[in-house]
Amino acid sequence: MKAFAKYGAMALMLAAMTGCGDKGGAGKAADAGKAAGALTIGFSQIGSESGWRAAETKLAKLEAEKRGINLKVSDAQQQQANQIKAIRSFIAQGVDAILLAPVISSGWDEVLGEAKAANIPVVLLDRQIDTADPSLYLSAVTSDTVEEGRVAGRWLVSTLAGRDCRVVEIQGTIGASLVANRKKGFEEGISTAANVQIVRTQSGEFTRAKGKEVMEGFIKAEAPGTICAVYAHNDDMMIGAIQAMKEAGLKPGSDILAVSIDAVPDIFKAMADGDANATVELTPDMASRAYDLLAAYKKDGTQPPKWVQTPSTLYLPDTAAAEYERRKDLY
Ligand code: AHR
Repeated sequence: MKAFAKYGAMALMLAAMTGCGDKGGAGKAADAGKAAGALTIGFSQIGSESGWRAAETKLAKLEAEKRGINLKVSDAQQQQANQIKAIRSFIAQGVDAILLAPVISSGWDEVLGEAKAANIPVVLLDRQIDTADPSLYLSAVTSDTVEEGRVAGRWLVSTLAGRDCRVVEIQGTIGASLVANRKKGFEEGISTAANVQIVRTQSGEFTRAKGKEVMEGFIKAEAPGTICAVYAHNDDMMIGAIQAMKEAGLKPGSDILAVSIDAVPDIFKAMADGDANATVELTPDMASRAYDLLAAYKKDGTQPPKWVQTPSTLYLPDTAAAEYERRKDLY
């Protein structure tokens, strides 16, 4: 009962956060909930490398529970082989649909072909795949991951107002669709500013521990006082980098500007404390959008858009304390 009440409060908060609380949206969600009620859905999740990822899993379960969906979650522990195994197991169990958050973008054609042959629709969550055959999946619910990088890059350019800036970049998991995109977008965002250049880039695998390790390496490799900003492909790596900066006697947020992606509660806390400067939101509420489109598709064959795009909003320290309060129980 206590858990139910907490979930109820979280769902209300989520509706407020995502703007899904309007009458039309709520009505549609309720209808979809009814149609989706009997569904069994397999979710091949990447793992729990970041706070964002954990929140996505939590919300997928919460939204499934609200709609009476029987959700089977498989944690791949960052291994594509485990995801392929899980998808095959879901096919063998005869699930009604599969959600896939693909750890890397390549190598999915064979197993998704098997799902297609079994007539099981697949919806991609938060990352895209490389395939010459888009019929292998029904829809993809993701942000515009190039735009996320652009938003971060543009913010940096406007904040610097012409000041020279040597940027270090901490990338996510190499091979994931969004990593190349977040890099490309950021480069586009700073392309108008000759005063801003990326001087080092390395993968921190989307984890706090690796983000810290990579930042420690950057600080050692660069002459003291020459790093002007850090761009991290997610907030968790930035939290690790902040720790590395502090341990090196630097002041993150002022000595070195800090911009990252996700908008998890801890980055809002860091912003409120003056340790970080900006984050671009990636909503963890991916699954509810997938449930809605699957319900409609299963009900009467309604074809969803191939890409359901989630927004990429920039958050700054002025709202950080309030955002932290609003989000802290969601994660
Ligand atoms: O695919 C979404 C990314 O994966 C998030 O930005 C990151 O935190 C997560 O691990």
